[in-house]
Amino acid sequence: MGANMAVASFADPGGGIPATAREIHAELRGVTRVYGRLAALGPLDLDLVRGEFFSVVGPSGCGKSTLLDVLSGLGRPNAGTVSFEGAPVEGVPDGVGIVFQEDASFPWLTVYDNVAFGLRRAGTDAAEIARRVDYALGFMGLSDFAGAYPAQLSGGMRQRVCIARTLVTQPRLILLDEPFGALDQQTRLLMGDELLRLWRETGATVLLITHALDEAAMLSDRIGVMSSRPGRFIEIVETGWPRERDSRIVADERFGPVTARLWSHLRGESLKAIGKKSLP
Ligand SMILES: Nc1ncnc2c1ncn2[C@@H]1O[C@H](COP(=O)(O)OP(=O)(O)OP(=O)(O)O)[C@@H](O)[C@H]1O
Ligand SMILES: [Mg+2]
Repeated sequence: MGANMAVASFADPGGGIPATAREIHAELRGVTRVYGRLAALGPLDLDLVRGEFFSVVGPSGCGKSTLLDVLSGLGRPNAGTVSFEGAPVEGVPDGVGIVFQEDASFPWLTVYDNVAFGLRRAGTDAAEIARRVDYALGFMGLSDFAGAYPAQLSGGMRQRVCIARTLVTQPRLILLDEPFGALDQQTRLLMGDELLRLWRETGATVLLITHALDEAAMLSDRIGVMSSRPGRFIEIVETGWPRERDSRIVADERFGPVTARLWSHLRGESLKAIGKKSLP
């Protein structure tokens, strides 16, 4: 982490993971990304701890999707290093699953075939595909819609298809880019619960990008607050939530202070991002 970066802690550091069990799962060091003459990201450092739930918040256009791009190996940084499970990232590593910002379900395939798509391409045997797809559909509450096409589903269900499609590959690191951005508040809270259940049951490390501060506060062990572009982490907030948690944490008296802390940092950065120094 950057030397001058504040760390706010609402409990023991470590995102609910005992210090003795902390293992760096993915690491970015001095990472920058430029598009032509536009500095989009960094220089940025990040250590993701194996098994933690880490969220990233930041103003629109600050480089969050770009961060996911370089962390996943879809894009290369212009400087710095990215590693996953101790090895340099070059292309999407085995064990990393991505859920994109936009609905990326294939409209011409049924729900079942959408979820099976990656495994079929990887040449997984048919019985194993059936087993994993049935499990993922059940887990995401989509079993009754296996034969439906995406156009016949709600937005929340289509996002669940995308999550199921990632889940069947049994990722150890799941990267999600604003997966619930298009959903109403109630559906987002419930999808958050689904995501927490998935995180607990799979033991995967989760990195979630969101612009909803309450979503980040509710779901995460740690939240990285990014500056306006080029994005860097200006603060890492540790929530101290127990591993067994769900959306009812929003009623906890410690919830408000976490969200307020995020906003106190982001307000200024968000103003910069829309080209204003301050509001009257
Ligand atoms: N492929 C690209 N080519 C050129 N510029 C790009 C490209 N992708 C992103 N950018 C620029 O890089 C900056 C960061 O973009 P990015 O998509 O990472 O932001 P973001 O934080 O994900 O924004 P949002 O919250 O709106 O999704 C933006 O200024 C954007 O215009
Ligand atoms: Mg984005």
